[in-house]
Amino acid sequence: MTISDYLLARKGLIEQALEREMLPAGGPFSTHISAMRYSLFAGGKRLRPILCLAAAEAVTDDSTIINNLLPIACALECIHTYSLIHDDLPAMDDDDLRRGKPTNHKVYGEAAAILAGDGLLTFAFELLSRPSTVLSAENCMKISHLVAGAAGSLGMVGGQSLDIENENKEYRFELLKTIHKNKTGALITCSVQVGAIGGGANYQQEQSLKSYGKFIGLAFQIVDDFLDATSTTEELGKTAGSDSERGKATYPAFFGIDKTKHKAREAIQAAKSALSSFDHRADPLRHLADYIYLRTH
Ligand code: IPE
Ligand code: IPE
Ligand code: MG
Ligand code: MG
Ligand code: MG
Repeated sequence: MTISDYLLARKGLIEQALEREMLPAGGPFSTHISAMRYSLFAGGKRLRPILCLAAAEAVTDDSTIINNLLPIACALECIHTYSLIHDDLPAMDDDDLRRGKPTNHKVYGEAAAILAGDGLLTFAFELLSRPSTVLSAENCMKISHLVAGAAGSLGMVGGQSLDIENENKEYRFELLKTIHKNKTGALITCSVQVGAIGGGANYQQEQSLKSYGKFIGLAFQIVDDFLDATSTTEELGKTAGSDSERGKATYPAFFGIDKTKHKAREAIQAAKSALSSFDHRADPLRHLADYIYLRTH
């Protein structure tokens, strides 16, 4: 199976699970639910849930386990989608286009977009705390705890705060790395780590997969910066060139385009090295690392 076939198949599985899990529009909260559904089903690569399942797959052959991890994978996508809705708000990046469509606040208004984000974030923890037939109560707790930490103030939210605080500022490389590792890396690392735990990884396997996650998480945001500086709005489905317009702390702004690509490549190689003790079952993760580097949107 090629990586594109693999991504397509996994994406289909996740889309179906999201459709199963997400509240249907209708009833007294119809506007709010429609706003959540609008962004959740607007497309998207579904990379975080795919990574979660691929990490489990690296340590187990049991397809029942993979299927039972789908609610956790969906929770990660809900948190990611909430972060995009809030990231696009006028008070943050003020973007008009996301996943090839007008941003949530452009369609539903700012208040509804904030609430759609709140709803998706909260729904994620409803999914994570659902009693599971395959995961032990201890692992369920561990996974919820890790996701909360990665999404919160010492993870994604903290990274977003630094990102905004440092617009149009002089900054050091250490700070740039901290922003990227937190605003984007934290949830990606966590997606890999919770997949590993769900798949029954031992301590060593979990640590190696976490390390892989940290490197691809950093690489993912470096490539996101690179694409913002070099690609087109049409290709990206979001407004190209918005980082330099807003004076964001990015790799291309700090290092220039060529060195940015080199830095991404280095991180991808480090990620693949972290998988050296794994057998062929980690091949999807190896291909995903290459995909993160080579992707065009
Ligand atoms: C975009 O994430 C925001 C970042 C964290 C860089 P993705 O590139 O994964 O966005 P979708 O989910 O495919 O739309
Ligand atoms: C967003 O980073 C990170 C999160 C949403 C947490 P960006 O602001 O670079 O993402 P895009 O480019 O708008 O997708
Ligand atoms: Mg942003
Ligand atoms: Mg943005
Ligand atoms: Mg970006």
